[in-house]
Formats: sequence, structure tokens, C-alpha cells
Amino acid sequence: MINALKETTAYLKNKGFEDPEIGIVLGTGLGKIVDDIENQIVAHYNHIPHFPLATVEFHKGKLIYGDLYGKKVVVMQGRFHHYEGYDFIDITYPIRAMEALGIKKLLVSNAAGAINLEFKRGELMLIEDHINLQGGSPLAFKEVSAFGERFVDMSDPYDKEMCDQAKAIAKEHNLPMNTGVYASVVGPQLETKAEYRYLKIIGADAVGMSTVPEVIVANHLKLPVFAISVLTDECDPDNLKPVNVQEIIEVAGKAEPIMIKLFRELIQLQ
Ligand code: HPA
Repeated sequence: MINALKETTAYLKNKGFEDPEIGIVLGTGLGKIVDDIENQIVAHYNHIPHFPLATVEFHKGKLIYGDLYGKKVVVMQGRFHHYEGYDFIDITYPIRAMEALGIKKLLVSNAAGAINLEFKRGELMLIEDHINLQGGSPLAFKEVSAFGERFVDMSDPYDKEMCDQAKAIAKEHNLPMNTGVYASVVGPQLETKAEYRYLKIIGADAVGMSTVPEVIVANHLKLPVFAISVLTDECDPDNLKPVNVQEIIEVAGKAEPIMIKLFRELIQLQ
């Protein structure tokens, strides 16, 4: 993997991806922040050496470099999921590539279902901790020690300083933001009523199909990471209606201005 990363970063640097400060992973329906990136340089995943190939249609599959709110950023427009058939090492390869390019912090967003029914759809949830239910680890490979500790500490996986900053921003600007525990499942099927009950019992406030592999790798690389969900549906096992993925994407889209506001303020503070 070390040689692969050298080829990946050589390709990107050659395109002009020089010294990015912050890496950003954009989740479902949250892509509009890219309109604010100035001096964009775009690399399509399919052209970047050693990147997995993009599949799910509503993800655009581009790495975008540029200036965002005064910072040099590299943005993943579209991420990889285990449910698309990628293994955990492939899913997280772009995180390792962004770190090798020089990012100092990672910001991640996703769409999630609300398990905590005090939280409402359209609101945000700052992720303060997680439960990995994906049944695997992006650190389970032979060369892992070449990149850092194998037995990575996860006692505090989310950067406290950025969490505090986000809370202060939400308060100041009156943004609807909750705080909680994100459970990551494989999907792509949604959960049964019994699974929603189980997720609540084990301490999850939200459930989704991404983010945790990326966060584990960020911790492996000692990269401070911030993650936030937009809650797109309320997962009430006693009142469960068939899920509508189009609706999930729509709610994520409606919450986009709140998310962008938060990211704008947060990025300026880094
Ligand atoms: N489960 C339930 N609801 C959701 C999810 C999920 O994984 N993602 C977005 N809404």
C-alpha cells in the first residue's frame, strides 16, 4: 500500500493538489458545499491511480481541491461503502491518500436515521462516539503496522476541540444540532423494527451505513476527526413506515443550508 499511496499522491500533486490543510468527506445530498470551493482542481476517482471505482449513481465520485472559506481543502464528493462491495481497506484508501497529501484534519458528514426519537428529521447530530456494527475493520491487514499502531486507541475517537467549536457555532447561530452516538451498519437494506429496538438498547442515537471505517483510519493516522449526521428519518419501531430513499435524499438536501453554515464557521476556525 505504501507504493500505491506514493503513486496516488504523485498523480494528485502533479494535478496541483498541493499542501491541503483539511480533508472533507461529503455525505448523501450534502454536495452543494462544492459550489463554494474556489480555484477548483478536479480529479475523477476513476482516473486516480489505486482509487476504488465509483458506483452508486447519486454519488458523483470526484476529489476536488481548492480554497474553501480561507482554507486549502481536498473534498471527497462521493464516498465508498461496504454495501457496494468494497472491502474496508478500499473504503478508507482515500482517507490515507488525503493524509499522505498532508491534510491536518478530517471533517465527515453523512445521512442517518434517528434512533433517539427526541431528535427530529432535518436536524443535525454531532457524532461524539460510535458503535461499529459493520463486522470488520479497515485495520485488519498485514501491512498495518507500517502506518501506525495496530491496536489503535478508540477511547476518544472524535476531536474534542472541533466538537466544542461546533456546539458553540450551533448555539450562536441557532442551528438545530443534537449530540449522540452513531451506529454504523453495512446495509444496504434498511433496518427491521427489531433491529431499531436493538440499536436503541445498545445505546445508539442514530444509524447509518458509513463514516465509522473512515473515522477508525483517521484515528490510526492520528488525524483529528470531526463527524456529523443529518437526520433524514425517524426510526420509530412502534410506528414504522416503509422507507423511501428518495425522501431520505430530499430531507438531506433540505438540511443542506444548515450543514453548510456549520461547516463554513467550523472551517474558518481551523
Ligand atoms: N438506517 C435508517 N435510516 C437511515 C439510514 C440507515 O442506515 N441512513 C439514512 N437514514
